[in-house]
Amino acid sequence: MLDKKIAKLLNEQVNKEFYSAYLYLDFANYYADEGLDGFSNWYQVQAQEERDHAMMMRRYLIDNGVPVKFDAIAKPDKTFASANDPLLAGLEHEQYVTSLINTIYAAAFEQKDFKTMQFLDWFIKEQGEEEKNAEDLVKKMKMFGHDAKGLYSLNQELAARVYTASANAPAM
Ligand code: FEO
Repeated sequence: MLDKKIAKLLNEQVNKEFYSAYLYLDFANYYADEGLDGFSNWYQVQAQEERDHAMMMRRYLIDNGVPVKFDAIAKPDKTFASANDPLLAGLEHEQYVTSLINTIYAAAFEQKDFKTMQFLDWFIKEQGEEEKNAEDLVKKMKMFGHDAKGLYSLNQELAARVYTASANAPAM
């Protein structure tokens, strides 16, 4: 059985990961509407990964005897003035998610809940990668996104992203 505070934080994080999936699908919708199908694909794959994160946390709670409660998922409320805006919003969102994971990790450390710390190790690493991916997208857009040819190439590159279940990830 997990400590009540840890269980509550993890259950809240399940909701936040589902929200991340919803948010990134909203980005995918925006890009689809703009005719940038590669960008749309990239965020659709990202949304799938976010759903996986929610499912991993749900599984961890269930496997530790915690009844999982679902809450309403907030409406994505961002508006975009340019194709660059979702990329910046995505980076900001990942930095926020890193802070949430760190908060749960710190609470587990305080409780000497080594099992949860070990579970969260994967997420700590994953957040590092996700922030880097988001930063790379922002940088690439800055360098190549300002002319039609560059934007076309970048869109092609992002169209190639395919979903694969993460190796060594916690069970779902
Ligand atoms: Fe689930 Fe993008 O962090």
